[in-house]
Amino acid sequence: MTVSSAERSDRAAVLCGLGGVLPRHGVDNAELAVRLDTDDTWIRTRTGIRSRHIAAPHEATSDLAVAAGRRALANSGTNRADAVVVATTTPDRTCPATAPLVAARLGLPGAAAFDVGAVCTGFVYALAAGAGLIASGVVDRVLVIGADVYSRIVDPEDRQNAVVFGDGAGAVVLQAGHADEPGALGAFDLGSDGDHEDMIMVAAGGSRVRADPDRASRAERHFAMRGKEVYRHAVNRMTESARAVLDRSGLSVADVDRFVPHQANLRILRTVAADLGLSADRCATHVERAGNTGAASIPLALTDDHTNQSLRPGDRVLLTAFGGGLTWGSCLLTWPELTPAAEPARHEEESAP
Ligand code: UT7
Repeated sequence: MTVSSAERSDRAAVLCGLGGVLPRHGVDNAELAVRLDTDDTWIRTRTGIRSRHIAAPHEATSDLAVAAGRRALANSGTNRADAVVVATTTPDRTCPATAPLVAARLGLPGAAAFDVGAVCTGFVYALAAGAGLIASGVVDRVLVIGADVYSRIVDPEDRQNAVVFGDGAGAVVLQAGHADEPGALGAFDLGSDGDHEDMIMVAAGGSRVRADPDRASRAERHFAMRGKEVYRHAVNRMTESARAVLDRSGLSVADVDRFVPHQANLRILRTVAADLGLSADRCATHVERAGNTGAASIPLALTDDHTNQSLRPGDRVLLTAFGGGLTWGSCLLTWPELTPAAEPARHEEESAP
């Protein structure tokens, strides 16, 4: 499809569908305390998390991504997308990307399909990629999915990370429209600081170090995070990025109805909201029930907020994320009328291929 430059300047990506899934198996803090040196009080006071969902042994990231993508497409009213972008840190395989398989399983043959790796900021980066594909006239409809199965890369014996992370997937459908219509994605702020790549990493398994027990230790073969330092960077970067996107849009915090940050840790979310001057009741808190679900956390929180009507049509929504890399990003949009209402994020279907 060819789009003239005059048409392009008016074109915007508009959110028109939403869906999310959590694996069936929920794990509460008491269950974790049976096998790890931890307890419900520590987990709740340090993270705000009460439970998380863990993928079944046969479930991979693509299975959750397909289930979330199917819901988002159904919610958008049409099973059509010209491109599929999957943000994930836990692709099914190192090669190839997960998105082409997801597109095929969703019945979207020929769709452009690629993965975005920006760790917990992945969904905001993928949203920017999808919005750019639409705004430039390359495609008309994009399915943007955030999906992660952290339980596959976190060492189950690592009490710091095993209590924080959960599995899940969330998705939105973007379609070509106009910048002034509800659902239109507004300004973005994106950034990174690779000098701190070692703050959040899986050291082995890429081209630097083989994931071979003879070459890499158990710790190097699993997800590692310097929690306290990451916490500090997360608060600063998320606050700065949220302010930057508001400035770019000529808006202030008072214009924000709903703040939907990456669900890293309830204390981080509350601190960022307070630093921005946003009351706690305007901040999404899905982390309490799902833990930190990586790239899935923002679309899952949106699905949850939409389902329980914390998000209403016309609300101005601020999305802000932070993750490994380090990476961060924010985006503004006005919440659209979505019919029918998105379903709650529970995994009700058998998802094995
Ligand atoms: O999603 C991408 C971005 N990620 C984030 O933003 C996460 C940022 N970091 C965090 O959320 C927090 O740093 C954690 C939740 C990971 C850790 O909380 P913390 O308050 O920073 O705890 P800490 O690392 O300072 O550990 C305090 C104590 C330590 O014991 P000592 O050295 O004081 O004796 C830890 O060994 O708590 C201990 N500890 C635990 N105790 C019970 C660590 N994990 C646990 C646990 N249960 N699960």
